[in-house]
Amino acid sequence: MTVLNPYKILLNGDYSTLIVVLSAATFFRSMCSIIGYNGKNSAAPLIVDSLKRMEYRGYDSVGVATFDSGNILVRKGIGKVAEVNKNLNLGQMSGNIGIGHTRWATHGGVTDKNAHPHSACKKDIAVVHNGIIENYKELKEELMSAGHTFVSETDSEVIAHILEIHYNKGIKEAMIETCKRLRGNYAFVAVFQDGAIGGARYEEPLVVGVTNDGYFVSSDVLGFLEYTDKAIFLENGDICVVDNSKLEIFDSQGRPIAHPITQVAWELGDIDKGKYAHHTLKEINEQQLTVIHAGRQDEAVMNKFCDVLVNAKDIYITGSGTSHHSALIFKHMLARFGKIRAETVVSSESKYALASMDSNSVLIAISQSGETADVLDSVRLARDQGAKILSIVNVTTSSLARTSDACLSTNCGPEIGVAATKSFTSQLALIYNITDRICKNCLATEKAEFVIAVENVISNSASSIRAAAQIKDASDVYLLGRSLHYPIALEGALKMKELAYVHAEGIAAGELKHGPLALMEKNTVVIILNPHDATFNDTISNAHEIKARGATVIGISDRKEDIYDYWIEIPHLKEEAYYPIVEVIPLQILAYQMALAKNVDPDYPRNLAKSVTVR
Ligand code: AGP
Repeated sequence: MTVLNPYKILLNGDYSTLIVVLSAATFFRSMCSIIGYNGKNSAAPLIVDSLKRMEYRGYDSVGVATFDSGNILVRKGIGKVAEVNKNLNLGQMSGNIGIGHTRWATHGGVTDKNAHPHSACKKDIAVVHNGIIENYKELKEELMSAGHTFVSETDSEVIAHILEIHYNKGIKEAMIETCKRLRGNYAFVAVFQDGAIGGARYEEPLVVGVTNDGYFVSSDVLGFLEYTDKAIFLENGDICVVDNSKLEIFDSQGRPIAHPITQVAWELGDIDKGKYAHHTLKEINEQQLTVIHAGRQDEAVMNKFCDVLVNAKDIYITGSGTSHHSALIFKHMLARFGKIRAETVVSSESKYALASMDSNSVLIAISQSGETADVLDSVRLARDQGAKILSIVNVTTSSLARTSDACLSTNCGPEIGVAATKSFTSQLALIYNITDRICKNCLATEKAEFVIAVENVISNSASSIRAAAQIKDASDVYLLGRSLHYPIALEGALKMKELAYVHAEGIAAGELKHGPLALMEKNTVVIILNPHDATFNDTISNAHEIKARGATVIGISDRKEDIYDYWIEIPHLKEEAYYPIVEVIPLQILAYQMALAKNVDPDYPRNLAKSVTVR
């Protein structure tokens, strides 16, 4: 097998993961990466490598199953890949065929038994699953009354038992019959006792990696990109079987499907941490380049995007989490510089808000992964009403990218850290480009200055690091900003929650007097986004009001003021609209440093995974 150099490879991948919807449900949903390999090489070392690369998708337990000499061997346990591998020697399991899994569970379910792979009664099948089987309870009851014994508390185990029932009809039939019984969303890969693997997907990603001497079936191209840049992206409802080194893809009726092999085409700088302690730190540092890359767009797509946008009767912009904060900035930029009115809708609210669209409407969906379930739901809703879909996506092979009328790529390369950093500033840089195009170059003249400023804040991180040491034990942090700085206050608060596990709240500075002022007292920490622009005077008044109540004030500004207990300096910009891209970086550094000070792993925040592919 050829091992491709990960520093040189061209990649277009799917960096999505899923996160469990926390609910009162008593079963333990899995949130995970899955991988299968069937080829001429020893499977276990390849699978363990794949799991390490996809670990950001879920990281509470790990397991591998291989097929060798008519037997299926299963080893699994709780912990990260390196730890479980060390304890159980996963990489030394024999056989050229196998499957693997890293899991993300909800409340209480992190146990060896709940780790995947799951087998059925005869131990002739093992399954790894990503998603939620919504009807698992009724299936389990039915299976138990038919004599099946369950050993885990997961929904996933039902898949193994149903496969087992139909296995005597052949693998293809077993896969089809099993998929017919499942409700919910899933991607699963199974290894069978006669040495084949089968995979199926519905509303969860699954991609086949094609090498000269075998196939991978993975939830993410990162699972195999070290070995091949040839990928087949399976569509919803597709089923595949790899038997005797032959790949067959078919639909739920067994009809063959031919998908093209995609040469992954996204330039990958580096998926390793390189010299950095964490992916998050690396990605923060990459921003000096990625904000430039966001400007490299296909002319024709950019024109189409702008044409559709300016000709729309009504425009909605949607996204989740960080991408929603980009949406807020986009709305502001369109209004201010393009004189275009748009509404923003946080994607999880879209089913209540996107009710009056038609064929003259446009939905702009923003997403790093392009696989966030809430975002895809918004798109479906808009599409059903006849609206056009524009998207801003990092993963250009994602479901969102593929379903859009025009999709612009943020071009920032894979983002592995769970907290969005470079993808956010790339989204903003692209949004500024689109706005500039629409306002006929009203922003272009000062474009170079924000790029230099980004470089400057990254190399002058000392004041953010000092401030982090001062506030690391704060239990509440408030972030204040007006106008374009308000979405950055929200984004900074999100970074503090995710990375530093601190309660943080972004507040529109003018709202202080309408309530939050009551919270200001001696131990409160307030970060003020306060560049010397049109918002400066009003926000500095807020700083005085806060200081008068004894709170600690951290100012992020190009101008030093005595009122600040700590000043985080950012460069002065002639075009004040660019401040958001620059001022968010000290907040990312601050949150990262607070995580380190609290001994928290910033790449793998508790309870979270990279993207949220369930509702
Ligand atoms: C950001 O730091 C978070 N990890 C999260 O809010 C994320 O932005 C959100 O889940 C949306 O993801 P997407 O951009 O991949 O759609």
